[in-house]
Amino acid sequence: MLQKYYRKVPKQKIHEELKKKYSNFCDTVVHIDWDKILFNRVSFITAATQKFNECRYLEIGCDNNICFRSIPVINKIGVDPERGGTIKDTSDNFFKNNKNKFDVIFIDGLHIFEQCRKDVINSLKVLDKNGYIFLHDMTPRNWAEENVPRLENTLWTGDIWKVAIELSKTKGIDFFVINADMGVGILKKKEVSVDYYDDFKNLKDLKFKDFLDLNKSINYIDPEEGMKIIKNNLK
Ligand SMILES: C[S@@+](CC[C@H](N)C(=O)[O-])C[C@H]1O[C@@H](n2cnc3c(N)ncnc32)[C@H](O)[C@@H]1O
Repeated sequence: MLQKYYRKVPKQKIHEELKKKYSNFCDTVVHIDWDKILFNRVSFITAATQKFNECRYLEIGCDNNICFRSIPVINKIGVDPERGGTIKDTSDNFFKNNKNKFDVIFIDGLHIFEQCRKDVINSLKVLDKNGYIFLHDMTPRNWAEENVPRLENTLWTGDIWKVAIELSKTKGIDFFVINADMGVGILKKKEVSVDYYDDFKNLKDLKFKDFLDLNKSINYIDPEEGMKIIKNNLK
């Protein structure tokens, strides 16, 4: 439930200008201060990797390796066309050539719906049954954080919340979004083969104001509960 965090921002002159410039301007925000929450993506991913003997870890989008170098796993591959990780390439090229299987995958590459869902579909094919996928930035708090393309001087989730909507309808997995660190998606693969729920046509043109309504179908959990689920439910 995200509705309890909704707030209307007070009317300001600047909003009239923004409204004229950006058709997706919206004066409702999701009022969560991520800095006040005592867990982040690294906490959850680390907890998951500890459930596997010799965990095989893949990270898509590594940037300056803040997460990648923190994950306490020996067998790790990181993919990024710009910087960080172990393979300098796009996720699409990586998956074309890859022959490895993984236990835990963290998807944090290009934060655009079309690319992120491709990364999830490709990851599901190389993730063992009982394996986990984590996704970063599932919870935009305002229209600017969600805007595609990215606006200057903003934190950016992009529109990958649409992937959370599709995953919430996908069979053969458990899927939650943890209320921490800009929204951390956690998926457990419960079947050997999983068919990703395709709702691309209906979702592709939607904006932040649609997210405010559609997120009712997403299972949000608090970080402490997320940690318990990982510790108790993983393999
Ligand atoms: C948000 S940063 C990753 C942060 C990192 N995972 C962390 O937690 O510290 C996103 C990264 O995705 C990379 N990226 C962009 N397009 C990509 C693609 N097609 N495939 C893989 N990575 C991509 C960018 O170069 C950037 O470094």
